[in-house]
Amino acid sequence: MAGSSHVYQAPRGTRDFLPDDMAVRLHIERAWRDAAVSHGFDEIEGPTFEHLELYTSKSGPGIVNELFSFKRSGGETDFALRPEFTPTLARMAAAMGRGLAVPTRWFSMPWHYRAERPQRGRLREFRQFNVDVIGDPSPAADAETIAVALAALGRLGLGPDDVQVRISHRAAVNRMLADLGIAEDRITDAQDLLDKRDRIEPDAFAAKAAELGLDADAVARLGALGGEAVPASTDPATLAEAWSVPADTLTELVALRSELEARGLLDFCRWDISIVRGLAYYTGCVWEIHEISGKERAIAGGGRYDTLVESFGGPSLPACGFGMGDVVLELVLRDRDLITGGADLLPRPDAFLVSMGEDTDAAVVPLLTRLRAAGLHARATDKSTRNLGKLLKDASRCRARFAVILGEELAQDTVVLKDLDSGDQTEVPLAELEARLGNG
Ligand code: HAM
Repeated sequence: MAGSSHVYQAPRGTRDFLPDDMAVRLHIERAWRDAAVSHGFDEIEGPTFEHLELYTSKSGPGIVNELFSFKRSGGETDFALRPEFTPTLARMAAAMGRGLAVPTRWFSMPWHYRAERPQRGRLREFRQFNVDVIGDPSPAADAETIAVALAALGRLGLGPDDVQVRISHRAAVNRMLADLGIAEDRITDAQDLLDKRDRIEPDAFAAKAAELGLDADAVARLGALGGEAVPASTDPATLAEAWSVPADTLTELVALRSELEARGLLDFCRWDISIVRGLAYYTGCVWEIHEISGKERAIAGGGRYDTLVESFGGPSLPACGFGMGDVVLELVLRDRDLITGGADLLPRPDAFLVSMGEDTDAAVVPLLTRLRAAGLHARATDKSTRNLGKLLKDASRCRARFAVILGEELAQDTVVLKDLDSGDQTEVPLAELEARLGNG
């Protein structure tokens, strides 16, 4: 019945990618891939869903509460859409066992699904750049992954005035939590709570902290945990004092500092004990990349997880890495005008063919076919108008480099080539067209 058809909406927290959006997505993914490849990482992929248990066993309460889980119709096994890539990567490494050459450097750019409340910077389906080193316990490996993250952001135009790496260490955080009186078996819950503290109401924070056995004074101290971030160039004694932790919890951070310095990255980095990370499997250095004013959610987060591969039945293999989502990153890039509409990122046609009369129309398709066979990006107008001004406007709208005008010169196997950037116009023999377009 006319007018009764239902207009479907995309599920909340998902996105449709129209051509301009897709161009932005590919621009970001190109920066990710180029940065990872240039640092010697190989690309991998895994399944979009896994056995539910892969996440419930090691990722911790933060992520488990956000799973999309399901059973096959009529089946018994529980599955979950992957909310993150690290368990898949650890499963793959564990399955390869001793056959895995170490250290191994892997990256991926998978889709992830989290049943979070959609909000600025948080969706239910997002892409995440994952970069991990498996089998290297040294802080050099942590520094390499930080270097890839910053190189990717640099390719997109973000530098030390735009983004900051905030680095912390699980041993120091846990030491502070223990000093506040949190029992050892509640440390994971406390990490989860601290990770969420900017996202929940103060009353809810206080109630949850009280559940962890904290009195009012300790709740206040927990809420204030962190204080000012300290420049990463700071000497270890000052850092230990700022964090009120024994210097021996900082050994790895001191080594990481020299690795970051050797890579020229200290300007980007701060020590910040308020970085706790919600995931339970981290064991050492943890870090996040934030937009410098701190107004957005984290652009990236990662750290060291030295026991995860072994806990999935593999050999004892230390590992570290990070995930960088596309959602916050795009917000930061747009905010700084580093991405505008997206149309400017679409691939530029080399040639836009325009036929001026009925006698030249028949030449359009064979010429398009010839140019495309030569590897060129060639288009023709879909319009029936012969108004050259209008047609050239269409050519400029899709940002074609050249208009190829088929007019009466075609009888002499010649076309008019108009350079749409400079406006220059020349007659070109048909036989030389590919060469002229290819050199443009
Ligand atoms: P994560 O902190 O859960 O870590 O996520 C890393 C990044 O993914 C976040 O900083 C954010 O940019 C993005 N992200 C997370 N959730 C959402 C969401 N709902 N919507 C949009 N973006 C989101 C992990 O996932 C770890 N597995 C990363 C890792 C890899 N650690 C070691 N290797």
